[in-house]
Amino acid sequence: MLVVQRLDGRIHNREGFDCGEPSLNRYLHELATQHHRAGVATTHVLVENEMPSTILGYYSLAAAQLSLSELAQADRHRLPRHPVPVARLARLAVALGEQGHGLGESLLQDVVKRCLGLRTELGVHALLVDALHDRAATFYRRYGFRETAADALTLYLPLGNAGQGKP
Ligand SMILES: CC(C)(COP(=O)(O)OP(=O)(O)OC[C@H]1O[C@@H](n2cnc3c(N)ncnc32)[C@H](O)[C@@H]1OP(=O)(O)O)[C@@H](O)C(=O)NCCC(=O)NCCS
Repeated sequence: MLVVQRLDGRIHNREGFDCGEPSLNRYLHELATQHHRAGVATTHVLVENEMPSTILGYYSLAAAQLSLSELAQADRHRLPRHPVPVARLARLAVALGEQGHGLGESLLQDVVKRCLGLRTELGVHALLVDALHDRAATFYRRYGFRETAADALTLYLPLGNAGQGKP
């Protein structure tokens, strides 16, 4: 069974991960644990329950904010005039041999679920992502991510009114 776990260097083999994108490999190999400890970003890995050392994919999340003017006009409705709190999907990657089998989509679903869960503790209006390149932006657009006003590679997904629980 596939599970998403918080990155733990004692269990997960970071060095063995290769998604074909050097900057995303390097982040997991060298920085993710350090950033996690420092509260800069959390990293979550996708593994097979019975072989947790092999990282099949990962994502990193951090708190961020987005200026109201970056949102499409229709998405500004009823928002206050100050920056909007968002979660930044700082990185998302799937191991080379596993790409194209739906794991990227599963990881993205897990990110959205986690962000909706966070909303019981902290305002998180949308999920923000900086796509590495146009191919990656195409992947995110499939799932409803919209371009920000300033940059076609910076996209956001409004999280709607779900997941807030009853006040
Ligand atoms: C981009 C990435 C995360 C997608 O993960 P994946 O497991 O290969 O994707 P999935 O199998 O879940 O694909 C889901 C859908 O997106 C499509 N898709 C996958 N990669 C895509 C891409 N680069 N561009 C456009 N569409 C893509 C698939 O065709 C699939 O659609 P389908 O169900 O109609 O066939 C993965 O390929 C990867 O890690 N690439 C290298 C690193 C990278 O570029 N990361 C993005 C950083 S911003």
